[in-house]
Amino acid sequence: MASLYPSPPPLSITANNGASGASLSFGSFLFKIPKSKASKVAKPSQYYVSRVSCKATKDDNDTVEPTNDLGMFDRRDMLIGLGAGLYGTTATLTNESLSLAAPILAPDLSKCHEVAPVEGDPINCCPPFSSNIIDFKFPLNPKVKVRKAAHLVDETYIKNYKEAVRRMKALPADDPRNFTQQANIHCAYCDGAYPQPGFSDIEHVVQVHNSWLFFPFHRWYLYFYERILASLIVDLDPDFTIPFWNWDNPKGMTIPSFYAELDSPLYDTLRDPNSQPPKLVNLNGSSDGEIHVDKTITPEEQVLSNLRVMYTQLVSGSKTPSLFFGDAFRAGDKENPGAGSVENSPHGPVHVWTGRPWGGDSNGEDMGNLYSAARDPIFYSHHANVDRLWPIWKSLGRNRRDIDDSDWLESEFTFYDENKNLVRVKVKDSLDTKKLGYVYQDVDVPWLHAKPSSSPQGRVPKGSNKKPSHQGTKFPLALDSIVTTVVKRPKKRRSKEEKEQEEEVLVIEGIQFEEHFGIKFDVYINDEDVGLGGPIKTEFAGSFVHVPHKHKHGKEKKIKTRQKFGITDLLEDLGAEDDESVLVTLVPMFKRGRVTIEGIKIEFDRDAGNLKVLVL
Ligand code: C2O
Repeated sequence: MASLYPSPPPLSITANNGASGASLSFGSFLFKIPKSKASKVAKPSQYYVSRVSCKATKDDNDTVEPTNDLGMFDRRDMLIGLGAGLYGTTATLTNESLSLAAPILAPDLSKCHEVAPVEGDPINCCPPFSSNIIDFKFPLNPKVKVRKAAHLVDETYIKNYKEAVRRMKALPADDPRNFTQQANIHCAYCDGAYPQPGFSDIEHVVQVHNSWLFFPFHRWYLYFYERILASLIVDLDPDFTIPFWNWDNPKGMTIPSFYAELDSPLYDTLRDPNSQPPKLVNLNGSSDGEIHVDKTITPEEQVLSNLRVMYTQLVSGSKTPSLFFGDAFRAGDKENPGAGSVENSPHGPVHVWTGRPWGGDSNGEDMGNLYSAARDPIFYSHHANVDRLWPIWKSLGRNRRDIDDSDWLESEFTFYDENKNLVRVKVKDSLDTKKLGYVYQDVDVPWLHAKPSSSPQGRVPKGSNKKPSHQGTKFPLALDSIVTTVVKRPKKRRSKEEKEQEEEVLVIEGIQFEEHFGIKFDVYINDEDVGLGGPIKTEFAGSFVHVPHKHKHGKEKKIKTRQKFGITDLLEDLGAEDDESVLVTLVPMFKRGRVTIEGIKIEFDRDAGNLKVLVL
């Protein structure tokens, strides 16, 4: 099989005897709230709090936030304070259960500040100020409109769409509906322009990526963008909807032609010239921008590779809400807890593939860098497709449902609407697109059947003694070459029922790097063939992808996050269910920046996203 990647990084095999996996062993974690603090909510003496998906490091137990505006309370006090109704949240306290409410609340626009790019002057992407915030109300009897696939729309539609964006770009610069203002919304919510309410330090900003906020934030963002466009062309098409870029379907795998016409309001000069039609998108492209072009791959292989990425990310690799949506991000948490499967890939690679390659004066603009991504009109079609995958994922079966944690449901954002009103929205109102007035055109979903073959090429033979030879990986490890390590499995030979109840999850912990670099590494399981071959290979478990944000606050800003991979199906395909351990290979696909990893382990995800509190 042709390698999908030219010039692989040098190989070094290191290993892990499983000890570090064990030291990180978990499931849900418990911490104890001391009596004196629990008494603040006038409840019985002790609570044991189990947060299933969390950044359970040991300092969660004794961290005092250094710059917490709420004064001398520590984090748990604040969470309980919020839960007790301090901010009018809906948490309830009963003897059976206690919801510690700590949703990320709507940012205070008066606290919005400039964001500093790595080079050059700070960027101000703050919206115009308004002190008058109205709460979102569902449109009464909304007409349910259809968002169409971009490759299926007709000439009249394209003409109207261009006119809508042209009018949006022609609005006064300080009009919140103006195109640049719309693009800046994304920059502000992604580059740390808003402190979390109650905090003023750079560690506690509102961040809509790398967590469970990713899907609902972008849905709301498109909702208002679309309404503004529709309102600007009521004379032409009052039922206007934005089109989705159907990159998961072979017919939609190029940039839709009307985005590529010069002199169109839908064109953007800051794109990769190598990614113009008829070039096929690479859903597993590197985030570096330099090594994502594989000259040897045929169009047929590219299509198959793309369908496999979709299958891995949507079908086999994201069987629980936590795997799909990403990790919890609550008030008081540091940003970037961990992205869901789709946010990583294909969402990230499509950004980078569309934007300019890095180098010279390019930082991947526009699409390949989150501060500038929404300046390209194609952004909104890219995200419409991402948004479309949410209901598709939910339709795929058991456990595939929205998160029922009130911190997610009550999380808030603000947007200006088509009447220039500042509107506060909540995640819970975004869950049903019909209530918001739209659905997606029904098109073929060919990747549903793109299951990899069960005849893996590189699997470790049963009873093989090869694994012990990989012992010795030291964590944290620097990912500067291909790394192979053995990770112990806490359970093996699980019954069908057990597998249905609990997904086996490979967790890569403490992934650290500077956030202005594009990072990608691929992950393979039981692949003795040095981990190349890409998504076509059965052993491919997925990728970690970081689209650069390009900003820093004074000093180099580091991201620390984690990535999870659902591997129950994969292990079945590999015939590795009875094995004591798995061989994990990480293949770095970036050229810039330095990545370190704190540990790799296997956990079991029962029903992530649930916050359960037991009062003993
Ligand atoms: Cu907010 Cu595609 O990123």
